[in-house]
Amino acid sequence: MRMKEVLISEEKIQSRVAEMAAELKHEYEGKNPLILCVLKGSLIFTADLVRKMDIPLEIDFIQVSSYGNGTTSSGEPVLKKVPSIDLKDRHVIVVEDILDTGATLRFLMKKLIEMQPASLKLCTFIDKPERRKVQIEADYVGYKIPNCFIVGYGLDCAEQFRGLPYIGILEEDE
Ligand code: PRP
Repeated sequence: MRMKEVLISEEKIQSRVAEMAAELKHEYEGKNPLILCVLKGSLIFTADLVRKMDIPLEIDFIQVSSYGNGTTSSGEPVLKKVPSIDLKDRHVIVVEDILDTGATLRFLMKKLIEMQPASLKLCTFIDKPERRKVQIEADYVGYKIPNCFIVGYGLDCAEQFRGLPYIGILEEDE
């Protein structure tokens, strides 16, 4: 598959991440927030974001499978990895690469609320509002984009392209 165009350049990504980090720093300074990176796609955004926040914080990981446990085809999301740090009474920021239909995040946020955090916010780098199938909005959004198939900056196509420093649109039908 070949790249058709660059949608968001590395420079624009880094500049927007810096703005988001400044906003989070302002709101969470002194609260020792728990940054919850949703594997795998959010790995790169999380790494950039926390390095720019420049306040005491903790990092943990969570993973959701959208396809059940492999033996069923229910389409129900399943928690594949739970956080190792106790969320109770913590200020939790869920960090995602993309909010698409919303199914994964609505499921995840509901599960996390059951863990009784002091506060729970959602931060996504990319939001595709046109694709939404369930009601959910992020508290912090990097870029709202139209419905196109993007890769890079953590986002994959068959596990490829995650390491690209920019977000691009692939040629279709190749
Ligand atoms: C992506 C993304 C979100 C989810 C969003 O993860 O990181 O978790 O899809 O889609 P939705 O809004 O339609 O639920 P994916 O399942 O591709 O896993 P990955 O991060 O490991 O690539």
